[in-house]
Amino acid sequence: MTDKQMNKVWRLARTPTQGWPQAEDFRWSEEPLPEPGSNQMLTRTIYLSLDPYQWGRRRQGVEVPGVVCHGRTVCQVLRSRLKGFDEGDLVFNTNGWQSHGLTGEDISVFGYMFPRKLDPSQAPISTAIGVMGMLGLTAYSGLIVQCQPRPGETVVVSAASGGVGQVVAQLGRIYGCRVVAIAGSEEKVRFLNELGVDAAVSHRSDNFAADLAAACPDGCDVYFENVGGQVFDAVLPLLNQHGRISLCGLVSQYGNQDGLDPRDQWRKKGEQVFTRQQVQVHDLFVGNYVADYQETFLDEVGEYVRSGRLTYREDLRPGLEQAPEVFAQMLKGDNFGKTLIGVSQDPTQSG
Ligand SMILES: NC(=O)c1ccc[n+]([C@@H]2O[C@H](COP(=O)([O-])OP(=O)(O)OC[C@H]3O[C@@H](n4cnc5c(N)ncnc54)[C@H](OP(=O)(O)O)[C@@H]3O)[C@@H](O)[C@H]2O)c1
Repeated sequence: MTDKQMNKVWRLARTPTQGWPQAEDFRWSEEPLPEPGSNQMLTRTIYLSLDPYQWGRRRQGVEVPGVVCHGRTVCQVLRSRLKGFDEGDLVFNTNGWQSHGLTGEDISVFGYMFPRKLDPSQAPISTAIGVMGMLGLTAYSGLIVQCQPRPGETVVVSAASGGVGQVVAQLGRIYGCRVVAIAGSEEKVRFLNELGVDAAVSHRSDNFAADLAAACPDGCDVYFENVGGQVFDAVLPLLNQHGRISLCGLVSQYGNQDGLDPRDQWRKKGEQVFTRQQVQVHDLFVGNYVADYQETFLDEVGEYVRSGRLTYREDLRPGLEQAPEVFAQMLKGDNFGKTLIGVSQDPTQSG
């Protein structure tokens, strides 16, 4: 059997024992390709999405040792016994951290629920796991649906150069807001300025809190929270009366080992200010917005992307072998844009 015909797989080796990912948490294997049963198809993975929430699944035991690490993917159909899908089709599905996978009946809820054909003439196929996928919908649901920003209001967004954050920052500008973006490095700050935000500040600066306050002379009306920790500490005193927050994620806390729920801790820290300033806090779980907003989002944001009004930066790392290392780097900020692994050749990019 040639190398090409083997399935390369990352499985979870153990329920993580350390706060942040370790090499020992993952196990690599090469296995024969599976054969699709009835109502199933075999696809080869082209792009694999690496997302902070995958770490939560592993730490909380949702993903158990021995299973293929979960992850959303862009794939090409190799063999299909699934109605509506043919060999060669490009699809969004959930192969996880492996080079090939089965999609269809009896695979898994994640695998079966969401296979969707992709049309490369509408948008580059990688965007199905980025700006035109869950990340874009997260940004849209949190900023537009939950916080309803008004022209002239100040929107602050953390992890602003990342997958979700860069979409939030640009949507804020498109909706006529003053956007203040927070990121880690000077390089990311430069990128955000080029993207057209009104101000960008680095949370690594010694003067971060003062820099942020100076960038928000009229306070903060809407805060899109991706990070928590010290970034949240600096935003709290700037919140205006009737401010709104979309509590999207708290990535700085995902390695905590105190056993406490980061969202509870975050709320406790903010509650006095929230009460005094009558701030509305919206918990965000993107899955709750698919049924009602997916189509609107794809129409509206799709148009911004096609017209070039909304751009996106991907951090594409070739080679499934390096998924655990890139994953750990992403959680610490060593990514620059939406993180994805290039697993095999994208046929729309060849020639
Ligand atoms: N609620 C939902 O349904 C939902 C859906 C998708 C994503 N999310 C959440 O959205 C957030 C962003 O996800 P993403 O996929 O777009 O990831 P991402 O922003 O591309 O990558 C994570 C970023 O977090 C920042 N970061 C890490 N540690 C930090 C720290 N200690 N202080 C400040 N910033 C830190 C880093 O940016 P810097 O270099 O700029 O620090 C890093 O690039 C995450 O919290 C994720 O869990 C939630």
